[in-house]
Amino acid sequence: MMDKGHFITMEGVDGSGKTTQLQLTARYLLDCGYDVVTTREPGGTGMAERIRDLVLDADAAVNPRAEVLLYLAARAEHVETVIKPALQAGKLVLCDRFADSTMVYQGFVRGILPEKVAELCDFAAEGITPELTIMLDAAPEALLQRRTVRGVNDRFEQEGLDFQKKVRDGFLMLASREPARIKRVNALQNVEAVQADIRKLLHEAGF
Ligand code: TYD
Repeated sequence: MMDKGHFITMEGVDGSGKTTQLQLTARYLLDCGYDVVTTREPGGTGMAERIRDLVLDADAAVNPRAEVLLYLAARAEHVETVIKPALQAGKLVLCDRFADSTMVYQGFVRGILPEKVAELCDFAAEGITPELTIMLDAAPEALLQRRTVRGVNDRFEQEGLDFQKKVRDGFLMLASREPARIKRVNALQNVEAVQADIRKLLHEAGF
């Protein structure tokens, strides 16, 4: 299924420091000798980035069914033009968010039947699933406190704390269902400690 390459994803609540950790992890894997492709969802290709602009536009309210299809249209394009070719070429794809985000945000939070979301995700990605998912986890209350101190004001605050708590519960539920693939890291530690935990997990997974 994975051909010769490797597929790793990073997930987590908004504001968990995922972007920083993704960059550090990519550099580490590169140093380990892997041919690393770093990418993100929604996005990763010209078309998918255009869809990203649409779905992340706070002013463009969209119903949940249309929303899930937009995310998955972006994914189908991303998988076809970036992820699949990279895996076939033996590369290591490190992706910021993937199907677990769809399960959590569109399924668990927006209320689309999980079986339906799973089926649509499978269709969009042609069954391609990550072999390892690093989930940056923290209580949204604690993250919000940290962000307020830094004066950050973005979607995290626009969506509200209850929303973020639901997102976290969704990720924790997925992690408890698939403990072999989804590995939780405490995102409330400092950057170095989070990165050290990630490297330990990578090592345990054979990287
Ligand atoms: P982004 O700015 O990349 O957030 P973050 O830096 O926290 O990853 O925006 C991605 C947003 O899109 C994020 O709020 C989660 C959401 N999302 C979904 O709702 N469904 C999906 O399938 C994906 C991939 C992302």
